[in-house]
Amino acid sequence: MQVIESVLEMQRWADQQRGHGRRIGFVPTMGYLHRGHLSLVEIARSRADSVVVSIFVNPLQFGANEDFQRYPRDLEGDRCKLESVAVDALFLPRSDEFYPPGFQTQVEVERVTRGLCGVSRPTHFRGVTTVVAKLFLAVKPHVAVFGLKDFQQLVTIRRMVRDLNFDVEIVPAPIVREPDGLAMSSRNAYLSPEERHAARGIFEALTRAHAAFAAGERAAQRLRDVAADHLSAAPLTRIDYVEVVDAETLEPVQTVERPAVVAVAAFVGSTRLIDNCLLDPAGVAQPATQQPIAVSHFEQCVTEGNG
Ligand code: PAF
Repeated sequence: MQVIESVLEMQRWADQQRGHGRRIGFVPTMGYLHRGHLSLVEIARSRADSVVVSIFVNPLQFGANEDFQRYPRDLEGDRCKLESVAVDALFLPRSDEFYPPGFQTQVEVERVTRGLCGVSRPTHFRGVTTVVAKLFLAVKPHVAVFGLKDFQQLVTIRRMVRDLNFDVEIVPAPIVREPDGLAMSSRNAYLSPEERHAARGIFEALTRAHAAFAAGERAAQRLRDVAADHLSAAPLTRIDYVEVVDAETLEPVQTVERPAVVAVAAFVGSTRLIDNCLLDPAGVAQPATQQPIAVSHFEQCVTEGNG
């Protein structure tokens, strides 16, 4: 696996791959990799000839009082994991090169970033789209994979790609869950054992809303209330939002007549977790608790209790 730290070197590597007719698949991450990330790599691999993973804890997408400083980092463990799944190149941009003194250009997607997480994190998506645009310009991917757990991020990036004519195919990846349903996230590492137990309430709330939908309920308010009622009764948990929104525009809906999502953000202790579940009137398959993915040697790279 080639480790690349400069933008110019990354661009040269990408040009070489393209020159040899190789398709580049890209998985941008902030590191502290878990099996959810591995599934993104597997999807990238299935659609490309060369796979690039980036690790960059992007200061621009954290608010002033958020967890940028304490965001979990484990570069050695991550390198080992990526080598075990035969990633071709690891891109580690340097903050001083990505955001040099005088940096003042950002990419902002408007309407789809206003609601949901945008209410409590008003500068977050601008930070995400700015860094993803910069990563795309460095890695020059044909295809990039983003997890469905960060549903609003996925919709936002798709919008940016369309609006700015990036020649990159955006591929959504299913949410990978722990056996009890908790969506995998690097931030799960913050949870105490009691909080980890309570955090299962998020998936339970989504499952209940989905069951009501599968039983024929189409009123968004009632579906929302089913999830919110369950979550408000969960220990150590405080709701940030529970909403039923259109899956494409992210606007709130009254009645679910086309694909919608129940989107949840909740604090478990002081850790803010997000999750969601698709409500598709065309097919009401149950949300799976666990995706069948190959684990390979990936999990032998545990170095700091990071799974
Ligand atoms: O989803 C993430 O890990 C980050 O938001 C991303 C896409 C790597 C941008 O920093």
